[in-house]
Amino acid sequence: MRILLILFAAMAANAQMIERSCVGCHGVRIIQTQRLSKGTWERELDKMARWGWPGKDRDAVLAYLVQNFGDDKPAPPPVVSQDGRKK
Ligand code: HEC
Repeated sequence: MRILLILFAAMAANAQMIERSCVGCHGVRIIQTQRLSKGTWERELDKMARWGWPGKDRDAVLAYLVQNFGDDKPAPPPVVSQDGRKK
């Protein structure tokens, strides 16, 4: 049980890290909808670095992206507005 709590705490910390370091220039959804392989995420981070991402905690960011938004993960649910249409 304790190990689970630690795991969740670590995941929450990583999510905050993404919020902090990736969401200055755009939203999270552009990240959540990608579903890329590890190599493609690495190239994506290279591209963000060229566009001005400082690259802090790069390894941890990469691990988080692969774990949560890897190409083996299901697509996130569509954002639906109140009238039921897809946005
Ligand atoms: C210095 C600004 C900046 C930072 C910081 C930044 N990005 Fe981006 N990112 C951009 C721009 C500009 C685009 C293009 C936006 C658009 O097309 O609307 C983009 C687009 C993207 C895309 C969409 C695919 C693409 O390549 O166009 C992904 C995925 C992405 N960023 C991931 C990240 C991640 C992950 C981080 C944090 C590690 C991050 N970004 C941090 C500027 C930034």
